[in-house]
Amino acid sequence: MRETNPNGMGNDVNDRIHAAWELVRSSAKLYSKGLETGINAGKGLEGEEIERLIFLGMGGSGIVGDIIRDMLAAPYTIPVHIFKDYSIPIKPRKDDLVIAVSYSGGTTETLTAFAQAHEAGCKLAAITSGGDLAKLAEKKGIPLATVSSGLQPRYAAPEMVSAAYGLLTHITQTRTEAKIMRDAIEELREYIEQFKKVNEGEAYEYAKSINNKIAVIYGHTHLFSTAYRLKAQLNENAKSQAFLAQLPEACHNEVEGWLMKTETAHIFLRSGYEPPIITSMVKWMTETLLSRGYTVKELRTEAKSHVAEIMKLVALIDFISISLAALRGADPLTLHLLPEVRKALQLNERLRQYALSSFAK
Ligand code: PA5
Repeated sequence: MRETNPNGMGNDVNDRIHAAWELVRSSAKLYSKGLETGINAGKGLEGEEIERLIFLGMGGSGIVGDIIRDMLAAPYTIPVHIFKDYSIPIKPRKDDLVIAVSYSGGTTETLTAFAQAHEAGCKLAAITSGGDLAKLAEKKGIPLATVSSGLQPRYAAPEMVSAAYGLLTHITQTRTEAKIMRDAIEELREYIEQFKKVNEGEAYEYAKSINNKIAVIYGHTHLFSTAYRLKAQLNENAKSQAFLAQLPEACHNEVEGWLMKTETAHIFLRSGYEPPIITSMVKWMTETLLSRGYTVKELRTEAKSHVAEIMKLVALIDFISISLAALRGADPLTLHLLPEVRKALQLNERLRQYALSSFAK
């Protein structure tokens, strides 16, 4: 029988929790590496005029597009779309830059949508650690940012985010600046120093306060992607249910559901750059929830730029999800039901082969 520690957790699960924790502790290094990779890979895109920016990707890779959209200074000078599906639901055009992000390089949805962009003659770029996506990018001369291999996709998100950011430094219309990211990485490095152990400190206390509750997460303005990251990390790392709501939209439906109580923890992503109307909205929502006996929490960090704010919040979120995994005895590095879904969808493999063959033309 497997040995257990006092929390009832198998030693191997314990080891994996610590390994996951250390990966997040190394995220400043991952952002640094990804940025240089992206800058180099994007040289082929220098001076390209683009009309729309489209990101393709799923799960831990799909969030890269969401985060980049939030990092780009709004109002955007061009439309930025993120599609997480088997196809691109708008007619792709030659002046679109379509960036496929797939850590494994083999995700069917990403490959089929990318094949559609290729057939339409779009400008293309890819971010991956290898697999079919790397092979076809090499074969077709598509700008390719190759990130570190051997990680779970969601743990590689920091490296993929900065690789995308680096690629976009070459595109006038997206206005990403390497210096902003480099400064943010320095801020993140210092911030991460305080997260020494899984079972102590801010992340652990936070995890304790939401344990055994369904999380309802509220994001807004440039923090919607971080809210989504929290939802996905609670799902994938802590094997815990979580749902997402967007402000101000939640004040037009969500709040009505508070009348009949369920065991939920309500988490508000807060920003130093928050519009005053959102601040008053959150105040009303918090007071109303508390008066009805709900658990209400905030997540915020001090940061010198909104890029740094997103990166620090992502790290904090990742630490919380691993602390929650520790409390629940869950393995944050292993997925159980995700691979089963893929196996159950036999058509997936046929679609994948079809997409790959369309690059052979
Ligand atoms: O975190 C994960 O492992 C998943 O959400 C994957 O990112 C998702 O299934 C897509 O795979 P990939 O990132 O390899 O394209």
